[in-house]
Amino acid sequence: MAAVGSARVGTAIRGEFPILEHTTYLNSCSQGALSHRVRRAYEEYLDGWDERGAEWEHWVERAETARSAFAALLGARNDEIAVTTSVSQGVSGIVSALPLGRGDRPRIVISEYEFPTVGQIAHAQERRGAEVVHVVPDEDGSIPVERFAEAIDERTALVCCTTVSYRTGNRQDVAAIARLAHEHGALCLADSYQAIGAVDLDVHELGVDFLTGGTVKYLLASAGLGFLYVRGELLPRLRPTQTGWFADEDIFQMDISDYSPAADARRFDAGTPPVPNIYAGVAGMSLVQEAGVDAIEAHVARLTGRLIDGLDELGGRVVTPREPARRGPLVCVRSTDVSRLVAELADERIVVSERDANLRIALHLYNVEEDVDRVLAALRDRRHLLA
Ligand SMILES: Cc1ncc(COP(=O)(O)O)c(C=O)c1O
Repeated sequence: MAAVGSARVGTAIRGEFPILEHTTYLNSCSQGALSHRVRRAYEEYLDGWDERGAEWEHWVERAETARSAFAALLGARNDEIAVTTSVSQGVSGIVSALPLGRGDRPRIVISEYEFPTVGQIAHAQERRGAEVVHVVPDEDGSIPVERFAEAIDERTALVCCTTVSYRTGNRQDVAAIARLAHEHGALCLADSYQAIGAVDLDVHELGVDFLTGGTVKYLLASAGLGFLYVRGELLPRLRPTQTGWFADEDIFQMDISDYSPAADARRFDAGTPPVPNIYAGVAGMSLVQEAGVDAIEAHVARLTGRLIDGLDELGGRVVTPREPARRGPLVCVRSTDVSRLVAELADERIVVSERDANLRIALHLYNVEEDVDRVLAALRDRRHLLA
């Protein structure tokens, strides 16, 4: 396990992130902190545009660098990765490639912890004749695999689960859910936005068919860049009707006479790549890769453990599971007035966020024990705002 402050995590990396000089930043579940490296990447993009005009070839090459970086993070092959602008694009591409309303598998199973985009895209398919089945958590907030088992059957086309819940910090047993889906002939998608970069993910170990996420949070870059992993063997039978010219087998042939998507996962790309975001994304991901996701995960687990112990001492209602295997980088604690709590902590330059009645505290590679102790001290002074 990586010690705090060793390698490229903790104190060793903090100098890359100017905001940490004056702020306790615990909001990577919303947006990762801006680094010097990501700022320089944007500048490099602007300089190239200024000096040489449109650098199409270079830009396309950068998109391929992003594809490789995503693949490396996931243990996938490059040809199994689509470069997208958002999770929404990737998920819409998947459902557009499934027959749903036609055929004998009309159902999409989703967990109650899906991000709105996944739920809304699933329900949009009702217009095509699909049925959506919700898997709801038990009273303690967990969604045991048995709940998925109750919902999945021979009518299920797609099972959507979320690796780490943005609402509670609960981590799902994605591998078990994927196995269940496959036992019934269904496909499995894991939205891993709240995990990628802070949780070591290997798509082949997980056994999922699709896995998606983006660069805004633990990949330390900005909005407008995401990825979709598609299991290689599935590609020949998936023909997305949500598409675009960058998904074509020969992009620069500029052919408008037919639909001939790329043979690989690029068939899930769409229009012009989000070039500025790709510059930023490649830079953000390089920080994560240099630190190593396994080292980040170990570092974050120590910090979340310290935080949960401290919240227990304060008598707070921690809604995130205690077992390390059932949580990721996000710890949620119940509040009686969470908006006020977030605002008061912001006044002390402690940046956290809220969902439902939960205060969300997210840890990442650049956080240190002092950050945890600082937020705990601020919460001790506001014990009345904890439920
Ligand atoms: C779990 C999860 N999925 C998806 C998204 C965002 O989806 P999109 O990239 O479509 O905006 C977020 C956060 O913004 C998220 O936390």
